[in-house]
Amino acid sequence: MDVIKTEPSAAPVIHALRSIGYNPSTAVADLVDNSLDAKASVININFEYNESDGMITITDNGTGMNEEMLQTAMNIGSKDPRAKRGANELGRFGMGLKTASFSLGKRLSVLTKFEGVYHERCWDLDHVSECNEWQLFTSIPEEVKEKMGTIEENSGTIVCIDKLDRFMGYGGRRTLKETSFFNKVSRINKHLEFVFHSILEKNDVQMFINGKEIIPWDPFMRYHEHTIEGEIQILRINENRIKVQYFILPHASHLTEPEYKKAGGYKGWRDHQGFYIYRENRLLHYGDWMGLFPKDASAQLARVRIDLPNAADSDWQVDIKKSGINLPEEAKRRLEAISAIARKVSKEIFYFRTQSTKTGQTFKGSLNTWEQSGREDGPQFILNRNHPILAELFNKVDDETAKLLNLYLKFVQLGSPSNIIDSPKVPEEIIQEVSDAQKELVIQFASTLLKINVAGDEEQLLNMLITQPAFDGINRATLKKIVMEAGLLD
Ligand SMILES: Nc1ncnc2c1ncn2[C@@H]1O[C@H](COP(=O)(O)OP(=O)(O)O)[C@@H](O)[C@H]1O
Ligand SMILES: [Mg+2]
Repeated sequence: MDVIKTEPSAAPVIHALRSIGYNPSTAVADLVDNSLDAKASVININFEYNESDGMITITDNGTGMNEEMLQTAMNIGSKDPRAKRGANELGRFGMGLKTASFSLGKRLSVLTKFEGVYHERCWDLDHVSECNEWQLFTSIPEEVKEKMGTIEENSGTIVCIDKLDRFMGYGGRRTLKETSFFNKVSRINKHLEFVFHSILEKNDVQMFINGKEIIPWDPFMRYHEHTIEGEIQILRINENRIKVQYFILPHASHLTEPEYKKAGGYKGWRDHQGFYIYRENRLLHYGDWMGLFPKDASAQLARVRIDLPNAADSDWQVDIKKSGINLPEEAKRRLEAISAIARKVSKEIFYFRTQSTKTGQTFKGSLNTWEQSGREDGPQFILNRNHPILAELFNKVDDETAKLLNLYLKFVQLGSPSNIIDSPKVPEEIIQEVSDAQKELVIQFASTLLKINVAGDEEQLLNMLITQPAFDGINRATLKKIVMEAGLLD
């Protein structure tokens, strides 16, 4: 059959490539992956701010590239994703370097040193758009190169992105202010300490952001004595060995305020439950049960680690950004079973039904009944759940009573005069947006009131709920809707 060779025109392809859905954090993480693939032991990430434009550089002491490798690397789509990867490689599509960089800015300069010799290339999308051809510069503009610095060791690579239109509004009417710029940087920092925690914990790689070392954040709190570690289980899926292990984090009462805050990660406790999927120790996906279960407050202590070898990519449909992932059918049943157990344990601990106090354990912490909370968004004062008398009480009573007591204490805390904030009054008939956590609390409280026969009917129940300081700011219509939807009243 006859064929015609067609060259896609450059301008629209660029536009598509820039919009595959990276955010600044996932983009930088993808560039760091390349440095890790190149066996770097030190990776320096720098963000430089300038009012009209900034510059992002990632400098590593990895293997570097020779002229030919660099030319291939700068090609759009330099690899066949079906090719077998080296055992520990994080890359896959031969797209990351370009797509991740272009999601941040329009100019990508790569300076690399291989066996002592420098090589360089530069993509400038302004130029590509202008000539509508894939013209790659064989040298980096002097003013950029000057700022990129040099590679001290015998090999290594500097990837530099500027003309940061996407990252900071370069070329537009308003660019990012310095504080917002560095707020963005600190979010990236949090992302990196998280996705690379497992790699950083091994101590053979160091990463720095603007000179400050990135400290790994372990979502499983393995160092904490009250963390429960499940057995490691191996699933065999299409010849690949998948390692699965669940962790149940300690009840809040076993954590200090800073520990509690830290363990909540940057999305909060509820959004950090579920599966944590790693490929070659690099976190790819987290924060839900991948459609197997909903997120519940009571399951928030459960975090399940899944380790994939990179050969398993096609089974799990890892995408270019390495954040989209799908559970293969063969894995679903087993994962469902393992997480059902994890969720159950989480629930028991969450509701205080299982006490993980060990006999002979000495008491730690303060004798204060109230402690000042360090959080800005939550209550000012929190009850000290570690109080020895309270702990003893919980030990003595049965499950049902423990649950009631726990709920009561929750309301004591929320209703404490120093915790009450005046909420703006809302018209009665409007149904308000209420967070899931608050909804859950309303349901818990309402169902208890009904169960212990304090409230006899809808009218009484709503009257009680509306006077609760804990539900201040939620109007009657909304409370009614929550209660109805939960099926507590007919
Ligand atoms: N920092 C780096 N050091 C050495 N080689 C690199 C670096 N970054 C990219 N490369 C080379 O460029 C190639 C293309 O990178 P990329 O577009 O991210 O695709 P992938 O990582 O999927 O292979 C890599 O396979 C690697 O050979
Ligand atoms: Mg890559």
